[in-house]
This record gives sequence, structure tokens and C-alpha cells, in this order.
Amino acid sequence: MTLAVIGGSGALDHFTTIRTEAITTPFGAPSARPRHIRIGEIPALFLPRHGDPHRIPPHKVNYRANLHALKTLGAKQIIAINAVGGIDASLKPGAMVIPDQLIDYTWGRAHTFSDGGSAMLRHVEFAEPFAGRVRQALIQAAADCSIATVNQGCYAVTQGPRLETAAEVQRLKRDGGTIVGMTAMPETGLARELELDYAGLCLVANPAAGLTETPISEQAIHDQLARTMEQALVIVTRAALNLQQ
Ligand code: HPA
Repeated sequence: MTLAVIGGSGALDHFTTIRTEAITTPFGAPSARPRHIRIGEIPALFLPRHGDPHRIPPHKVNYRANLHALKTLGAKQIIAINAVGGIDASLKPGAMVIPDQLIDYTWGRAHTFSDGGSAMLRHVEFAEPFAGRVRQALIQAAADCSIATVNQGCYAVTQGPRLETAAEVQRLKRDGGTIVGMTAMPETGLARELELDYAGLCLVANPAAGLTETPISEQAIHDQLARTMEQALVIVTRAALNLQQ
């Protein structure tokens, strides 16, 4: 079973690259050349979602090319690392969430392979958007490494790249969102269309807009992600092992 990691902000330089793959897809080029890496002893793939260097904003990521490229290279399972803001009051910067639900507020993104061309029209089942087996591997990995994670949550996916207004965050909260980020969709839906088992490890970088006195600072988000990433990668490394079993 080949595992692929899609890294978000801050995950770029943490894995040693064995080689990169020059690959294009019917949907164009992926964000960067997918990298063959080793997670511990386990061969895996890594793709930096925002490109290398980090420059592609969430609404411009070619999610279809990214997922298609990983599938073509043999990926069966995907762990996605996402930066998010915390909506639920308990989710402080530094918390890690393995969400079990999402709500999609994005618009205008190429969000499906079922696009009216020669491909068969599919209405994929999506009641449980994240793959149970990959979620469980992450949850077990965190427990194995004695790292605290929040093992459920509803990821509200916004369009960005601007952060939300305070009123938008209150609406997301009323809708049931517990974290907010910009990248889980269409990525998760496309993974389902390609029958890739996909789950996310979400790193809370900041309290969502309007939930603290002080405005959100981009530098603070960046610094917090750098701090949390080390632990996230410990979890991913152990999860790769758990998925082998
Ligand atoms: N909103 C949306 N995306 C984010 C946030 C946020 O507050 N923090 C990190 N990614």
C-alpha cells in the first residue's frame, strides 16, 4: 500500500527526497514534482500542496492534477497536513485535529473529475468524507507516541486566501464547524472520486477570526505551524508504520 503525504504550509523541508518525478496529467501539472521519500523505513510519496517554493494560493492549487499524479504514481492512501484556525474554544494554537467531517464553502475551484467530458458521470458517496482506516492509523499513532490529538471535528473549508470575518466565523460555528481552513476541498472529494483513502491531520495555528482581542498575524500563524510541525511529523511517521500492519 503506497502512502502519499500532501504537505501544507510548513511541511516543505521535513522529508529527505530520494528523487522527484516529472509528471504531467490530463489536468495539467501538479503543484510541484511529487517526491519519492522514505518515512522511517517506508517508501512513500510527498507533494507540497502550495508548490516549491511555497507560492500557490489555496484557490489556485491544481487539486485535480495533484491527486491524479499521486494516483498515477501508485498512491493508495493519503495523509493530508492542513493548517487551520480553531473555531471551537477548546482548540488553541498548537492543537492537532483529525477531523471526521467537513463543510465546503469554496467556490469556483475545479472540484471534480466527473466534468461532463468522456469520463463517466459519478455521484460518489461522501457521507463520511475521511477514510476510517487512515483516520484510525493517525489516531493510534498519536496515542502510540503520547501526543494529544483531537480525534473528531468538522473542518469548514473557506475560499481564502484572505482570512474570515468575525461574522463568517460565527456562521461557520453555527453550522457546526470546529476548525476553519482553505484546502481540504476539493482535495478530499477528489480523493474519494479516485478511490484514494484520505484523511487529514490539521494543525491549529490561530484562534479563528474574531475569537481573540488581537488580530491574527500571519507571522504568528507561520511560527506556530513551525512549532507544531515536528510533532505532526512524529505522528505521520508512526501512522505510516501503522498503515503497513
Ligand atoms: N482561517 C482559514 N485558514 C486558516 C486559518 C484561519 O483562521 N489559519 C490557518 N489557516
